[in-house]
Amino acid sequence: MTQAALMQPPAPPPRLIDEDRVRWLIESVRGNRFLPQPDSTNVFVGDGDFRAIGAEFLGHFIRIGGLREDSRVLDIGCGIGRMAVPLTQYLDPQASRYDGIDPVEGGIGWCQRTITPAYPNFAFQRLDVAHELYNPSGKISGKALALPFPDSHFDFVIMTSVVTHLPPAEVLVYLSEVRRVLSPRGRLFMTAFVIDGIAAANENRRRDPRLAFHRYGESPFWFVPNQPPLAAIGFEDGFLDKALERAGLSVALKSLGHWRGTDAGHHQDFIVAKRRGNGR
Ligand SMILES: C[S@@+](CC[C@H](N)C(=O)[O-])C[C@H]1O[C@@H](n2cnc3c(N)ncnc32)[C@H](O)[C@@H]1O
Repeated sequence: MTQAALMQPPAPPPRLIDEDRVRWLIESVRGNRFLPQPDSTNVFVGDGDFRAIGAEFLGHFIRIGGLREDSRVLDIGCGIGRMAVPLTQYLDPQASRYDGIDPVEGGIGWCQRTITPAYPNFAFQRLDVAHELYNPSGKISGKALALPFPDSHFDFVIMTSVVTHLPPAEVLVYLSEVRRVLSPRGRLFMTAFVIDGIAAANENRRRDPRLAFHRYGESPFWFVPNQPPLAAIGFEDGFLDKALERAGLSVALKSLGHWRGTDAGHHQDFIVAKRRGNGR
């Protein structure tokens, strides 16, 4: 084989984002009361305005994560469609594909009944993974999880507000599975609570009072006192970077959020990761 044949094809040039269009899209999702929304009593994915949060994240996926209209998307821990509903307004029905997985039957059922009939390129699957808070009687251990998708199948993997609730040993399993299902130039868009010096400081009065994380012993994991451990987990700064490396991924971008009391355009911390040694 010649040298030229061994070389990888050149990476595509960086994509130019049409900022006016993205702004219009976000506003139209935020203001569109015809978009489906679950009854508030069935929403188990956190407080706040369901549609506004989804619209905000659509913007982050495009601007920060590089999501494209023709992306093949995997949404791990898709809940009750908070990210999926806005994505229906962006992903190309012919060229894209979206798969959402979650252990909560009610959330998956709502998405299957409400989203898939109008958008057949959106599929939802319940995975019976055990989780102390979300699915206590689950049959599959998160430590033995294999995502039900082939290798290199997705080019955009979403984990919003998911590792913030996962036992750390399961985070490692998920990252390794994400590496397996991610295409060579694919991206993982993950949110987390990264405990840096500012987030850790007890005298920090601007930090979100619900997230006064405390460290127990020497572990890199921080928990909120008087809450079940999986209600919110913070990771010592650097832990997730190393976990990504171990899984064969690397950090392409890190953007710290305002939960710690600093100025930022989003609440949780964002990490965008790519396959190590691949892509730009
Ligand atoms: C705070 S909610 C966030 C939901 C969704 N990502 C969003 O941003 O709207 C956390 C989600 O993680 C899901 N989850 C819990 N354990 C999981 C696991 N082992 N694998 C995948 N999802 C899990 C929960 O069922 C829940 O839907």
